[in-house]
Amino acid sequence: MPIAVHVVSDRRSKIAALRALLEPTFAVTAALLAGGNRVPRNSAALIVAVDLRVAQNVAVLKDMTQPCSTFANAFPQWIGNCTCLSRRLLHSAQPPFLSTRSTEASCMRLIGPSISTSGVHKNSIELQQAAATGAAAFDEMFSAVLQGKPVDVAAADIAAGKIADSVAEHGLSSWLDTVRLHHEGTYQHCLLVTGVTVDFGLSLGLRGSDIRRLYMSAMFHDIGKASISAAILNKPGKLAPDERLIIETHPAAGYDMLKDNQAISAEVLDAVRHHHEYLDGSGYPNALGAESISDPVRILTISDIFAALIEDRRYKPPMSRQQAFGIISGMHGKLEAPLVAAFREVALHR
Ligand SMILES: [Fe+2]
Repeated sequence: MPIAVHVVSDRRSKIAALRALLEPTFAVTAALLAGGNRVPRNSAALIVAVDLRVAQNVAVLKDMTQPCSTFANAFPQWIGNCTCLSRRLLHSAQPPFLSTRSTEASCMRLIGPSISTSGVHKNSIELQQAAATGAAAFDEMFSAVLQGKPVDVAAADIAAGKIADSVAEHGLSSWLDTVRLHHEGTYQHCLLVTGVTVDFGLSLGLRGSDIRRLYMSAMFHDIGKASISAAILNKPGKLAPDERLIIETHPAAGYDMLKDNQAISAEVLDAVRHHHEYLDGSGYPNALGAESISDPVRILTISDIFAALIEDRRYKPPMSRQQAFGIISGMHGKLEAPLVAAFREVALHR
């Protein structure tokens, strides 16, 4: 009989990712932190995927694990950004009690030997490393443009190459889950777009050089957001008209930030400036018509919209990939219909 493992998280996407990792080896139950439901008494391990630096979260967790009875094992151990911890440990310590990390071997003792370090766990680490490298590259390039310095194109190229390798090796679904589990905001979005464009390019059978052009475009496409306040970028819900106008400055701003950099190709600059244009002329910043929108830009635009729809944001659960593709399919006249049809496989099955 599989060991009973209970997952508590502040996000549905994290629960989904952990379920994918743990099932069917373990009998997984799960609950959102906000629900405050008690942890089932038969749980052998509790996996917590919440921000434990927040005292309120710890207080809720303690309440969820009352009445106190020990789990079968007592090794705290991270799985990515999550931790397995014993009921006893949770109730005996104050934050930041997770500074004590046992070895991977301890984790294996906790959750059993059936998760192989050379299997799922290793894949997970590789994906996380590629995402972390990508996020570091975004951090560096956003900081550079804010300081009026040239972006490090070589570093972005290396980071994007790692993302492309990870997507090719582990699949788009694993990439999307990893990024949404570990990254937030604009960097999450850019990591998602980069992975989606790579997979879209692979599914279309594009040459390596074309896929590279796509992922470099994706890496830089939203750099213009560097100059927009986090309050607007991360605002929950609908933007006010004046805020919408500010957001719509980012493609041209990004183009201006990059246009003098000799290491950035004309195709990438074109994609940065025009990734919000629509074939019917209703996009921005230049209201281009179909005749002026290149194929790579069309691919990037579809990938960008899809990534934006399935983002995991603190204030709302992520939209399902099916729903997101439904919305894209309904954008008649704005996106190239044959490309949207080809994107179906990427959106739903890869
Ligand atoms: Fe954008």
